[in-house]
Amino acid sequence: MDNKTTDPEFYKIFAVITAIIVLLTIIIAILSKIFASYSTDAHENYKSELQSLSNIRTEPTGKINLASNPSIKQEIIVAAKTNLTPKSGEEVYNAVCMSCHTSGAAGAPMIGNSSQWSDRLAKGKDQLYLNAINGIGIMPAKGGVTSLSDDEVNSAVDYILSKTN
Ligand code: HEC
Repeated sequence: MDNKTTDPEFYKIFAVITAIIVLLTIIIAILSKIFASYSTDAHENYKSELQSLSNIRTEPTGKINLASNPSIKQEIIVAAKTNLTPKSGEEVYNAVCMSCHTSGAAGAPMIGNSSQWSDRLAKGKDQLYLNAINGIGIMPAKGGVTSLSDDEVNSAVDYILSKTN
């Protein structure tokens, strides 16, 4: 028996193989289309994920969802308390003014001593506030604690006067 392939047979096989190759090409093209769309989806998801993460990180602190982060909540409350709640006149007096105004150090008019305050009161309260804020004689501005607000110094003056009358 002759094992040689005849021309018609060859063309048949050739056609079948060509068809298979064309078919494979189409399948590969379709598959690559599908995979490509998957990977752009994944890329988009990754990009938007990154974007939302960076949005969270660059969020102004005032917009942070406090309920979801108790430690930040605590920090903000502490910061707000120390920054925003003014110290009372008594607190300021005890912390800053007492060292001079209780003992009369350096000639400071003593708290509770009305005769030492009567002349000063005669200038008017507003002048006392101003001198306490800006300093007078040996007394440094705000008793040396310039981080005090004007209002805090004023309420310390009020406290001194309330204990002096
Ligand atoms: C370092 C000491 C010192 C500290 C601290 C100090 N004072 Fe005085 N204070 C003085 C002296 C001294 C005078 C008198 C100054 C003068 O008349 O020459 C004075 C005067 C004053 C007067 C009278 C001002 C006037 O016009 O006669 C007021 C009000 C006053 N102090 C408020 C305060 C308050 C409020 C604080 C705290 C925030 C404070 N002082 C802290 C030393 C001090």
